[in-house]
Amino acid sequence: MAKYTLLINGQRFQTEADPDTPLLWVLRDNLGLTGTKFGCGIAQCGACTVHFNGEPTRACVLPVSAVGNNKITTIEGLSATGDHPVQKAWAAVDVPQCGYCQAGQIMTAAAFLKRNPKPTTEQIEEAMSGNLCRCGTYHRIREAIQLAAK
Ligand code: FES
Ligand code: FES
Repeated sequence: MAKYTLLINGQRFQTEADPDTPLLWVLRDNLGLTGTKFGCGIAQCGACTVHFNGEPTRACVLPVSAVGNNKITTIEGLSATGDHPVQKAWAAVDVPQCGYCQAGQIMTAAAFLKRNPKPTTEQIEEAMSGNLCRCGTYHRIREAIQLAAK
């Protein structure tokens, strides 16, 4: 076990974990931030996506020892009141079905729109192609991103 101070959603948290524990489990089990989900555990589905200094990053394969002083944002910290433009668009389009993949989808979409505020449909599809949804909400995800970009 080692001690870590992590900068998450603008707050510093102290925790203990084995150095190779994935950040995902530290977030969920040590800090109670359960919005970030476990899907595959091998960086293939996107359910665990968080922002690492603003970049979408898969928390299931990021060891806690690699986080250092970098800024982590989870779905809980994307907006204090849940009214980030992407979250508002998600609600307007009623995107989720079971909801399991959606935090990861929103985190990927929010980082993408920051980089590319006026994307084409092809760019949206390319940016979101690594985030899987077993309920097949892909068309509503695309529509919500288009709405958020307006
Ligand atoms: S749980 Fe991390 S990518 Fe699937
Ligand atoms: S909404 Fe069910 S997995 Fe995406």
